[in-house]
Amino acid sequence: MTHAPAVNALGFTDVAFKDFASACHARVDAALDAFLPLNQDPTQLRDAMRYSLFNGGKRVRPTLAYASALAISGDALTTHGELLNRVACALESLHSYSLVHDDLPAMDDDDLRRGKPTCHIAFNEATAILAGDALQTFAFELLSEAEVVDAKIQIALIRQLANASGVQGMVLGQAIDLAAVDTTIDLAQLENMHRHKTGALIRASVSMGATALGASAEQLNALDIYAAAIGLAFQVQDDILDVIADTETLGKQQGADIARNKPTYVALLGLEGARAKAQELHQQALAALNEFGENADYLRALSAYIIERGN
Ligand code: IPE
Ligand code: IPE
Ligand code: MG
Ligand code: MG
Ligand code: MG
Repeated sequence: MTHAPAVNALGFTDVAFKDFASACHARVDAALDAFLPLNQDPTQLRDAMRYSLFNGGKRVRPTLAYASALAISGDALTTHGELLNRVACALESLHSYSLVHDDLPAMDDDDLRRGKPTCHIAFNEATAILAGDALQTFAFELLSEAEVVDAKIQIALIRQLANASGVQGMVLGQAIDLAAVDTTIDLAQLENMHRHKTGALIRASVSMGATALGASAEQLNALDIYAAAIGLAFQVQDDILDVIADTETLGKQQGADIARNKPTYVALLGLEGARAKAQELHQQALAALNEFGENADYLRALSAYIIERGN
């Protein structure tokens, strides 16, 4: 006798979401491998880039981009598959670069990432810096080399990724993070840091997936409210996991934030306060999707996953 899979409160099955997430994971892995194949590069640059891309990331940003595209059109992966693969790979490449640099001795000085030695430990510091640099430009190569695409859409994609990554996005967030070590910051400052450090690239993941499909301004607006909420929730959960998870599950050193006196949600609100904040953001994210039908179910599931994930 077969059992029907459990249907959750949102009306879709956990199994369906897991299948979707693994399909996205496989899709982005295959595309990254094809876009950046092994070659006879005499230096360690490409090896270090591939090491950092294929060391077991959860692929949350590519999955968000695919899910966002599907919220605009149920056929997105058939009609816009190639462009979406480029968007997904660009996001993951940019993200991997941010982690390689985040782990450097001058930044968080971490030895463990995704359960393996960090890039500068596996190779050396100079190679890790260069691999990060090249992963960053690779992201923009991928977007600018897309062939069958409306020029306006292509520029919008490039602009969204650039805005999310640099002086008004992730890098600004990292600068705020480093400046805040050993200081006391209030909740508004913490939120500002998280919105830039982590939230900006998550927002770009959602907006780029939808932009690739030619979403309307109204749709992009609603999706951005969703994305801002889950982007913040993602870092709230990252802060919670730093406290409650173990190093093996986490794949990175547990307690690293406390050890380095980093300002975090848990430090400011306590564990329960941080959990309540994550729940509140999840509800905000769901509310923003009210006008979308069942095509947005994967986005709904991703919001739940982000605050429930264990690593
Ligand atoms: C970790 O990001 C860094 C943050 C922005 C909090 P992820 O948790 O998405 O890391 P991977 O890619 O799955 O390793
Ligand atoms: C990193 O934040 C955010 C990035 C932009 C890379 P964290 O420093 O908290 O990320 P982890 O905990 O090392 O993954
Ligand atoms: Mg950091
Ligand atoms: Mg770090
Ligand atoms: Mg962290």
